Formats: sequence, structure tokens, C-alpha cells
Amino acid sequence: MLQLAVILPTYNERKNIALMVNRLDAALQGLAWEAVFVDDNSPDGTADEARRIAREDPRVRVIERIGRRGLASAAIEGMCATAAPVVAVMDADGQHDEKLLPLMYEAVTGGEYDVAYASRFAEGSSTEAWGRPDRVKASGVANSIARKVTGVDLSDPMSGFFMLKGETLRADAHRLSGVGFKILLDILATVDAPLRVKEFPMNFSARMEGESKLDRTVVFEFLVGLYDKWLGRIIPTRFALFGTVGGLGALVHLTVLTLVLRLFGTDLQLSHYPKEAAFIVGQTVAALTAMTFNFVLNNELTYSDKRLRGLGPIARGWLKFAATCAFGMLANIGVSTALVRVGVHTYPAAIAGIILASVWNFALSSKFVWGK
Ligand code: GDD
Ligand code: MN
Repeated sequence: MLQLAVILPTYNERKNIALMVNRLDAALQGLAWEAVFVDDNSPDGTADEARRIAREDPRVRVIERIGRRGLASAAIEGMCATAAPVVAVMDADGQHDEKLLPLMYEAVTGGEYDVAYASRFAEGSSTEAWGRPDRVKASGVANSIARKVTGVDLSDPMSGFFMLKGETLRADAHRLSGVGFKILLDILATVDAPLRVKEFPMNFSARMEGESKLDRTVVFEFLVGLYDKWLGRIIPTRFALFGTVGGLGALVHLTVLTLVLRLFGTDLQLSHYPKEAAFIVGQTVAALTAMTFNFVLNNELTYSDKRLRGLGPIARGWLKFAATCAFGMLANIGVSTALVRVGVHTYPAAIAGIILASVWNFALSSKFVWGK
């Protein structure tokens, strides 16, 4: 009878799949286990490689997600897709010591603990193979912030290697956010029942093949994750990000508007027709610049999980975003110009236009530009 599922999120890990299965096979002698690779349609053909192995070894399963990215959400979906009573999550690159799995299994099934996890920072662990003192340090800082915000006190709450009973997770799975990389932290902060956690010191070794996917976005995703936990239920994270980007876009907009008005040499009292023309030109140039700025930032940050990549998709996305924004922009320019005409000052008028356009842009672009 199936006892343990090991969930392995993968992104560009083709060369590591067979090695991982061999390692699990050696480490999990005597246990009935399955490995679930959750791949986000990796360009290097990871999913095909996993399917090739799965055809020969029924203990290996594959979930391939299309158009989605994210370690945490991949882990959640993998954990929800197994019938095994106990589930583990670990990296598929060999950095996590699979020999801990049987010890973790004992801890979780023995009745004394609900969660077992491997810590890179507990007494007796090592992170030398990171060869990246800056990242070890950043991890330490992140951990102490995480402790303060969530109240979860572990030496390594950001660890990606842990095990728990499926039922523990399922009770509150609908409340997990699946944002970023802090899935263990999320589980511990979300599950209502107090969880008894067993910590295993681990030597975090070097990757077998390929490179880390976390370097560029890890800090950002971590901050987003904390926000999500803290305020996410009041102001949804995606909307907050879109709004923040929009706020920066508004600064870009106002800066460009100011530059254009200076260029035309107007003071900001637009009572004469030619000056109004300068305002319209300024608003148009400013809105176009801000729109492009917003598109780029939203694509990188707000919709990083659905990021458009490559020249074609980005160009098409920009066009769709532009089309979406065109109506918003017309309303923006129309409303702000009308307000200026009835005597409202330039900046309040411009800001009113921006707010109107932002709401419209969010509603439509999340559906048509980054939607399915
Ligand atoms: N499905 C999916 N989607 N898998 C992903 C994604 C993604 O977007 N990004 C990364 N992965 C997979 C990788 O293929 C790998 O198996 C595992 O998740 C960890 O990714 P790495 O890129 O190897 O992360 P790392 O070694 O730099 O980061 C380590 O520290 C993090 C916290 O500081 C890992 O131990 C993480 O698990 C941990 O959260
Ligand atoms: Mn790794």
C-alpha cells in the first residue's frame, strides 16, 4: 500500500530526473513510495524526460502545468494530487539530502510530530556548498523577518524540504497562497492546529546539474509572500502589485507631462487654446510612456507567474495592453481635459484621469493580456 509521495517541483531539470529517481530508489528501500514531478512546461524538455522514466517505472508520476510558473503552487498541486497518506516536498536538483527521508517518515508517522523538515541553519548543518556567503546571509535576514511576521519560529522557515501527513495539509489547503518560494512557512502560518515540528540538520549540497531559478526573483517573491500573508486577504496581492506599479507609472506620467509642458514653455494655467493643446500633447506622450513602463513592470512582477517571454509574445502582449489601455487613455485624457476646462488644476485633473484609467486597465488586462 502506498505510504509516501515525494513531490518534486521542476523547472529545467531534465538532466536531474533520472539521477533523482535513482537516489530515491536507494534511499526509500522498504517503503512504498511514489515520486510526483510537477513541471511547469520547462523548455528543456524536463516533462518528456520524466514521462519517459515514468513509462518504465510506475512509481514515477508527472504533472505538467502549462502557462504557469511557481515553486510554491507546484508543490501544493503535487501534494494535492497524490493518494499517499504522507507527502514530502524536495528540490529535484540533488541539493536536498534524500537520506533524511526515512528519518522524516518515522518522525511524522510516529505520532510525536506533525511536520518534519530539513534545516540548512540548525546546529550541525552546513551550507558551504552554496559557495555564496551573500545568499547565506540574505537567507538569515529573511528568516528573522519571517519569524516576526508569521510568528513561526524555525531555524530555516524558507526550507524547501519537508514532510507532513496529507490530511494535515488538506484541512487548510484552500487557504494556502501558493505565492513565491516559502511554502513550508506558508503551511505553518496557515494551518490552524498547532503543528509539532521536528527539525533535521542538513548539509545543503551543490546542485547536480543546471542552475538555480531563485536568484533573480527570490527577494521579491519573498516580500510578496509576506505581504500576501499579512494583507493579502484584504487587498488581493495581485491588485496591490498592479496598483503599486500603477503608482510608479503615475510618477513616470507626471514627470513626462512636466517635461513636455516645460518644452512648450507654458505655465500651468491653461486658459488659452494653444496651451490646452500643449496639455493634450503632454498627456498623450506621458500616458504612452507610462503605459509602456507599466506593461514591462507588470509583466516582470505582477504577472511573473504568467510572464510573456520572447519577442513575439511580448510584442503581442504590448499591443493588447495598448488596446486595453487605449480606452482607459481616452477616458484619462478626456476626463482630465474636461476637469481642467472647468477650472481644476493640472495635477488633480491628471490624477483623476489616472485613477479612472487604472481601474479599467486592471480589470481588462488581467483578463485579456495575462489571462488564459
Ligand atoms: N514547477 C516549478 N516551477 N518548479 C520550480 C520553479 C517553478 O517556477 N522554480 C524552481 N523550481 C524547482 C527547481 O527545478 C528545483 O527542483 C526546486 O524548485 C528548487 O529550485 P532551485 O532553483 O534549485 O532553488 P535554490 O536551490 O536556489 O533555492 C533553495 O532555497 C530556497 C529558499 O531559500 C531551495 O532549497 C528552495 O526549495 C528553497 O525554497
Ligand atoms: Mn536548488
